Amino acid sequence: MVFAQSAERTLTKGKKISPDLFGLFFEDINYSADGGLYAELVQNRSFEYSPTDRRDWNPFSFWEYITPDFSYGSITVETNSPIHPNNPHYIVLTAEHVGDAGVGVKNSGFDGIVVKAGESYSISMFVRQLSADPISLAISLQTPKGKVLAESKFSTSSKDWKKYSATLKPIESTDSASLVVLATTRGKLALDVVSLFPEKTFKNRPNGLRADLAQLLADMKPRFIRFPGGCLVHGDGLGNMYRWKNTIGPIEQRIEQKNIWGYHQSLGLGYFEYFQFCEDIGAKPLPVLPAAVSCQNSGGTWRIGGTGQKALPKEEMQDYIQEVLDLIEWANGPATSTWGAKRAAAGHPAPFNLQYIGIGNEDKITSEFEERFKIIYTAVKAKHPEITVIGTSGPFPDGEDFEKGWRFANALNVPVVDEHYYKEPSWLMSNLDRYDKYDRTHAEIYLGEYASWGNKLKNAIAEAAYMTGLERNGDIVRMASYAPLLAKRNHTQWKTDMIFFDNNLVCLTPNYHVQKIFSLNQGDVYFDKIVNLDSNDTTAAASCVQDNETGDIILKLVNAGKESQAMKVNLKGFKRIVSKAHLTLLAGDPEAENTLEKPEVIVPTTSNFQASKSFSYHAPAMSLTVIRMKTK
Ligand code: AHR
Repeated sequence: MVFAQSAERTLTKGKKISPDLFGLFFEDINYSADGGLYAELVQNRSFEYSPTDRRDWNPFSFWEYITPDFSYGSITVETNSPIHPNNPHYIVLTAEHVGDAGVGVKNSGFDGIVVKAGESYSISMFVRQLSADPISLAISLQTPKGKVLAESKFSTSSKDWKKYSATLKPIESTDSASLVVLATTRGKLALDVVSLFPEKTFKNRPNGLRADLAQLLADMKPRFIRFPGGCLVHGDGLGNMYRWKNTIGPIEQRIEQKNIWGYHQSLGLGYFEYFQFCEDIGAKPLPVLPAAVSCQNSGGTWRIGGTGQKALPKEEMQDYIQEVLDLIEWANGPATSTWGAKRAAAGHPAPFNLQYIGIGNEDKITSEFEERFKIIYTAVKAKHPEITVIGTSGPFPDGEDFEKGWRFANALNVPVVDEHYYKEPSWLMSNLDRYDKYDRTHAEIYLGEYASWGNKLKNAIAEAAYMTGLERNGDIVRMASYAPLLAKRNHTQWKTDMIFFDNNLVCLTPNYHVQKIFSLNQGDVYFDKIVNLDSNDTTAAASCVQDNETGDIILKLVNAGKESQAMKVNLKGFKRIVSKAHLTLLAGDPEAENTLEKPEVIVPTTSNFQASKSFSYHAPAMSLTVIRMKTK
């Protein structure tokens, strides 16, 4: 057996590695935001769905006009006097004969509304009374058979748009409730932004996040969160680029738009909510802004390689640069500054301490891209040298855009470059040394999107092996995030994801467990030559880091092979290793995966471990083991 590393060597001091290595990447793909992490329960609450989102959608999609008990009236979608010009569509309901029940509309949310008996739900809506006399309204949560689970009543009292709010407490739990709004007296009214939230959002934030999903992300203790995409950022054509200013302020004033992944963005989960979430879970925010070019796959050129990149006209660039600079002021400026005041008005007078900004997302490296990136980057650097800008290098780990992107970034001295790749497990296993070979004098790397194609244990273990290489190269790999993060049942555009969910259930993939284990066991210093691995064995990988705060030494041992294997560990260079250590193991059938119905086929187990300065560990076949040892 040939050992790649000598166990006899005395330890050096170790190598400092990035304190921000493992984080998350959130993109609104697979219904991750509306219908997902964003806790809003009404779908198309503002009547802004349109055929631009999907050919068969319109402002009344996911709503039903209802005339129970032989009532009648009419309904229209109008635009002539909206709550706000950013939110042009609303409905006008005319109740002519209301019978015993009323005339109105019904919304069944995103595949049904889940409510729990005894819990509180906040309902709100904007109403404008259009007839002379007040109109009585009954708002209820109902089962598919029409049983009323909770109800609130009020009368209109304004001929201008007015917001009405109430709390509903259902008497029964169901996952298929509808929200019903009925006019129970005759008259005519306009209705818009009909919203229903559980009161129990993550940290009880208003306009907040679905508590169970947000908690799973918080449990990972990510060092950063990149948002809001992905391809979503540069968008399907220039008009679809994600413009952060459209996503802040009162929800009724946000500019909704098509989602490049084939649905709609209410943008209720906007920049304020992203920053707030980051702060709530102790993660650094990493917003990504378009580099003033649209996605190269714009206009349906996705499958044929894409030539659809469009660039903002030069005469619009000054305003665009200002938009980028304004974000930094919005995030970090004092509450007395123009944009800091908007953050304060939203309830956050203190700065958000923004440190990173991504410019561009795996854009095609054209001269249009380069010109625009350069002027944005130069402007940010000049005004905000404290901000670290992250550049981009195309969608693949090699090839033309990758080469050009890196050359361009290095020529500009961009400090960090974002790489993306989705690969087979075998590719990851054969490229464990990818970053060992990178030039240490060039930009650092943010591996912003990566995954092996699949959610089986063998995929997750290949990712674990690869992540030991990221740790080993944590001197130049500044950050890394698996992608995509969330995927909703029946609404999935990208089939390999970290967490699957529906309105009730959650499935944590083996890939999630690997990410979480690495994230919870990050270190500040990397030690080489601790674990002896056979250099001819391409199925094993290992790393050793120390966490400065606790002093703990953390070993990660990966066996992607079909047989268990012995790994020799030499910790003689450390002054003290406390023998009572903690072991986490993820192991099993390589082909096994978790599903929404069977979410616990592959789960980590934990146990005590007897550590010493020198020991041999038998890593089970297809496994990740983490041994965490105290030094004091
Ligand atoms: O993660 C899914 C997509 O993959 C992202 O939107 C894009 O950046 C990449 O191509």
